[in-house]
Amino acid sequence: MFARRSTNLVRGFSTSARSPFKAVVLGAAGGIGQPLSLLLKQNPLVTKLALYDVRGAPGVAADISHVNTASEVKGYEKDDIKDALTGADVIIIPAGVPRKPGMTRDDLFNTNASIVQTLAEAAATHAPKALVGIISNPVNSTVPIFAETYKAKGVYDPKRIFGVTTLDVVRASRFLGEIKHADPKDIEVTVVGGHSGVTIIPLLSQTPLGKDVKGEEYKKIVHRIQFGGDEVVQAKAGTGSATLSMGYAGARFANSLLRALNGEKGVVEPTFVESPLFKDQGVSHFSSNVELGPEGVAKIHDLGVLSAEEEELLKAALPELQKNIKKGVDFVASK
Ligand code: NAD
Ligand code: LMR
Repeated sequence: MFARRSTNLVRGFSTSARSPFKAVVLGAAGGIGQPLSLLLKQNPLVTKLALYDVRGAPGVAADISHVNTASEVKGYEKDDIKDALTGADVIIIPAGVPRKPGMTRDDLFNTNASIVQTLAEAAATHAPKALVGIISNPVNSTVPIFAETYKAKGVYDPKRIFGVTTLDVVRASRFLGEIKHADPKDIEVTVVGGHSGVTIIPLLSQTPLGKDVKGEEYKKIVHRIQFGGDEVVQAKAGTGSATLSMGYAGARFANSLLRALNGEKGVVEPTFVESPLFKDQGVSHFSSNVELGPEGVAKIHDLGVLSAEEEELLKAALPELQKNIKKGVDFVASK
């Protein structure tokens, strides 16, 4: 179902074995929430699917519940978040407003910071042990907001909170496949850093088909991976940002969390987590390849050998990341 890292939904495990995992989508009636929920309905590792939104989730749940897979789907709205979250194993959060042309992801901060903080308070209260994937932008700030809110509630475990950067990985694979006339399913590009513009760092030098991309072609593909979101925002002309490709990417990331919960070894995804890699440079969160396990983060991989160009990209990303992370931390401290 998903290219590369997740081709085998339950590799090494019988799909008929009942794995009682409850997946929850917060923001389930939105542009991302709906296709993401539909894809989760097709995931054999999900036995309970709870769809929550401030409005519209019961309708989405009624619709999806007719898909003939074994999982049970329930919709929740308004104040029903406690019932949606109770017993959650995995929570995926695409709640929040999307960009319009001319906006940066950081322009969403004022609206989305409060939404994410409210949802973090609910998750900290009703499902503090769940693995949480945050899609809401700006990811570089919403993940620290989530973390700080959990700290304030005394339930923070850095191994369980993830920023979903999978769309950057999906785009990198697709765009490299385009210029190399190769099937993206055979192309895996590690993308590190964060999820906005210059903080998105594709490590093309570590990919067989990517390492010989040079000069103008290199500059063009790096720019396209870093600013792929803008292509969609412009094409949608004011009606939103990536929803369908994000639904796909979010479902792939959720599937990786579920496979790890199910005991599968060697599940690795780039994701934005609290990380030791650049802590000494004041950057508390960073995306790199992370091995997932039943408790969440099992191992954070370092970046490996970078090309001179990638070292430059990293240099440009770190100050921006530091600023974005601080903004999230300060937001929670100011409350
Ligand atoms: P959308 O407006 O279509 O849907 C958002 C949904 O969130 C709506 O249904 C809304 O009712 C709901 N919502 C708002 N406040 C809520 C709350 N307190 N609790 C529960 N639900 C709430 O937007 P979208 O296109 O689905 O995008 C959602 C977010 O995802 C945006 O912030 C967007 O920038 C981000 N995004 C991130 C990535 C990524 O790679 N991480 C990719 C695409 C979009
Ligand atoms: C994306 O990368 O598509 C998302 O972050 C949405 C956006 O605002 O570009």
